[in-house]
Amino acid sequence: MLLFLNFLLGLIRILAADGGSHWTYEGPHGQDHWPATYPECGGNAQSPIDIQTERVPFDSELPVLKPHGYDQPGTEPLSLHNNGHTVQLSLPPTLYLGGLPRNYVAAQLHLHWGRKGQPGGSEHQVNSEATAAEVGENQSPAYEHILSHLETIRYRGQTTLVPPFDVRGLLPPELGEYYRYNGSLTTPPCYQSVLWTVFHRKAQISMGQLEKLQETLFSTEKDSPSQLLVQNYRAPQPLNHRLVVASFIPEGAFYSTGEMVGLGLGILFGCLFLLLAGYFIARKIRRNRLGEQKNVVFTSSRRATTDE
Ligand SMILES: *[C@@H]1O[C@H](CO)[C@@H](O)[C@H](O)[C@H]1NC(C)=O
Repeated sequence: MLLFLNFLLGLIRILAADGGSHWTYEGPHGQDHWPATYPECGGNAQSPIDIQTERVPFDSELPVLKPHGYDQPGTEPLSLHNNGHTVQLSLPPTLYLGGLPRNYVAAQLHLHWGRKGQPGGSEHQVNSEATAAEVGENQSPAYEHILSHLETIRYRGQTTLVPPFDVRGLLPPELGEYYRYNGSLTTPPCYQSVLWTVFHRKAQISMGQLEKLQETLFSTEKDSPSQLLVQNYRAPQPLNHRLVVASFIPEGAFYSTGEMVGLGLGILFGCLFLLLAGYFIARKIRRNRLGEQKNVVFTSSRRATTDE
């Protein structure tokens, strides 16, 4: 499903992508074919990745990220665009994040999602699990500022203007816990110039909002055979020699969930074994004792039986 809210935290020289060749996620121009036209897509530091938390060390130097200007992005309307690959909101450079090793200003934000009724949709995975934004009971008012305008930009190439709104509301409430690594743009031309921040906590939207995102946009232009814009996420790329660090101690650090379950069962069975062993040893000792007793006080055998 969707969005490990793929905030391209401002980072980078985003050169207008898609100036050149046609690309898609599936088919003859699909992701396996990107490197033929865009060589950097075949590089060794590509994104997204599957974050295996047991291999992620805690880095105590990583600060909490502080959004500046996100709550009031000016008075000018913001441009919302269907580029055939995603819905993209342009952001003014008055927005920036504190807590990054260099100064970056916001440029744009966009979303990735899956297909209605199917799990997944995020680009990054954690312990081989792709997720959507957390889908809850409540509508996210912040996401409504984007979703309520999708009808006017259904077709590729269409743009609309939306009133400025509190962009901070699109981010997860908690920005202190995140993964960090060096990677790339997840679409052609796949430049390996991205310092990635993947938030541990998810943003929450409602199921209705998610479905709206999955059902409204087309990847095709008006007046051509229409194709729904869905499953616009890239598969995880090899980590190669890169390191992923975390600003927090991930659950299951050192042990993955599977290993934890294994370990738990191991301990349980170990304890059970010890208990049974203890029981049988105790029983044996007692039997032996009773045996001795029986020899001594043979007549009290009834009581001994009751005891047992
Ligand atoms: C990312 O790359 C920069 C520059 O090469 C390096 O200083 C930094 O430690 C890297 N960050 C991570 C998390 O690997």
